[in-house]
Amino acid sequence: MKKSDRIYNERLERHLDELKWLYMELYNSEEQFEALKSGLYQFYQERRAGLKKLDEEREQDKHWYRRNGMLGMMLYTEQFAGNLKGVKKKLPYIKKCNVNYVHLMPLLDTVEGRSDGGYAVADFRKVQEKLGTMEDLEQLSMACHRQGISLCLDFVMNHTSEDHEWAKRARAGEKEYRDRYFFYDDYTVPQQYERTVPQVFPTTAPGNFTWLPECSQYVMTTFYPYQWDLNYRNPVVFNEMMFNFLYLANKGIDVIRIDAVPYIWKELGTDCRNLPKVHTIVRMMRMIGEIVCPGIVLLGEVVMEPEKVAPYFGTVEKPECHMLYNVTTMATTWNTVATRDVRLLKRQMEIISSLPSDYTFLNYLRCHDDIGWGLDYPLLETWGMMQVPHKKFLNDFFTGKLADSFGRGELYNEDLVTGDARLCGTTASLCGIEKAGFEQNEEAMEMAIKLDVMLHSFMLFLSGIPMLYSGDEIGQVNDYTYKENPLKAEDSRYLHRGDFKWELTDSIEKPDTVQSRLFHALGRLEEIRAAEEIFDASASFKALDTGNDSVLGLSRESSAGKVIGLFNFSSNTCRVQLGNEDERYASLVDGTEVKPQDMDIEGNGFYWLKKLDR
Ligand code: GLC
Repeated sequence: MKKSDRIYNERLERHLDELKWLYMELYNSEEQFEALKSGLYQFYQERRAGLKKLDEEREQDKHWYRRNGMLGMMLYTEQFAGNLKGVKKKLPYIKKCNVNYVHLMPLLDTVEGRSDGGYAVADFRKVQEKLGTMEDLEQLSMACHRQGISLCLDFVMNHTSEDHEWAKRARAGEKEYRDRYFFYDDYTVPQQYERTVPQVFPTTAPGNFTWLPECSQYVMTTFYPYQWDLNYRNPVVFNEMMFNFLYLANKGIDVIRIDAVPYIWKELGTDCRNLPKVHTIVRMMRMIGEIVCPGIVLLGEVVMEPEKVAPYFGTVEKPECHMLYNVTTMATTWNTVATRDVRLLKRQMEIISSLPSDYTFLNYLRCHDDIGWGLDYPLLETWGMMQVPHKKFLNDFFTGKLADSFGRGELYNEDLVTGDARLCGTTASLCGIEKAGFEQNEEAMEMAIKLDVMLHSFMLFLSGIPMLYSGDEIGQVNDYTYKENPLKAEDSRYLHRGDFKWELTDSIEKPDTVQSRLFHALGRLEEIRAAEEIFDASASFKALDTGNDSVLGLSRESSAGKVIGLFNFSSNTCRVQLGNEDERYASLVDGTEVKPQDMDIEGNGFYWLKKLDR
């Protein structure tokens, strides 16, 4: 037997019993299981030698993606550099940003105007023509790997575009393809679902079903009407989608972001989110990855309340996702910016720190989506902040409606029935850089930049992998041109999906510009993070009592030492008082010795402090 076959068989052996057991429990089809198995082997055989070598290295170094040097950036190929070849040419800039993990936003075939930012995939094996070809993607991945950069791509598994071949054939009446979706002759069953299933886009795409007049059928469409939900009760759907996943992995993708994963299993009478069978499917996907391409990492997109998120890590014996978005922390951070009260964020930090340190979170301030105010309302209510008025306060604050608002955001999917709304805007615009720039108010600009840097310093201090949103490193503000484009105007998420302004990068080396101040401040922190082992994801992480409700205190501790982070969310100077009288600390940024036991932090300021040996 060839060496590589031996390796494959060992991996298969390790998982076969459990995989088959779960598969049969779900699908009870030997025949389809055999089809899956032979597909897996085929994808393994097709995998490039270079990728197989990387798999083996990463199998020996399972924590490769959790290191303190990891720094991500998410970007849109077209907005950043026109096309995939363009991105390849811009790798030096990505390196200059200290980034070694790039999330390329959806780039697979989709129909303009019915694309949901690329999340309506018409062909999982074809790149959008304007962006290039699969060959370009593969070339880019190879260039990235040569420079120690990992690539992440979305795997949109909950639905296909209505322009996908399966959908077209289903629309034409082919039973085999109708069975891959949820089709109904009349509204009886859809109506039953509607009683218990909430809406994802209540304004831009109300309801969970779409009527197809040309075939007199309803089809399930949880997201936009042109995104048809796949039916994972059908083993062919599971098998084929796993093959699509492996196809992308074989193009040299390192991190697979499983889009909208909580939604993939539907059951009448439930809310169709986070159902147990979702976990069965993710667990099988994890094993399939470990058999064919163990070098890849699964990143779950679980935008849910904290108790729903952590289960997607699975258990130590039966892991599911390698990484999950730290979504509640993100939303709570912006809540803290508006309230200048860190109590809720501190509570959130306590929850995160109580989780096993094997759990790896992807930390971020902004992403391509809106900010949903998924906060711990029962706790907020004990402090007198009621859900509906509090959300209204947050949205008013960040859309510039309050006297002390500095944010320039826009509402997203305002639900006129519930009064609920989410928020869009770039980090810089939400921090006040846009307003201060427009008003040419230097003092306000000073505070806005400090807030922006402080938020990044907090994000970079968290346990897990930091992810920058392209443009944030130079303080790029909102882009309002989407309003002039009829294909985008309805979706305010395009506010923060504007073209990358390359001309602004010229200012990075000009002293005192917004770009230079932000870029170098973040760069300094990123370098410290990469140099200090204490920022490895394995360090223990704790929330501290700072004696001040505007200042969040965190510590990280491991055999590499101890560091403390202090983050002032108010614009006033604040006094902090930490315990441990006899410990001595110095700033990691400039080396000066300070006394966190009793000291002042200026408005929107922060400290990263390292404990000194006595
Ligand atoms: C995810 C994406 C979002 C998209 C949705 C539907 O939540 O982040 O942009 O609209 O999935 O695919």
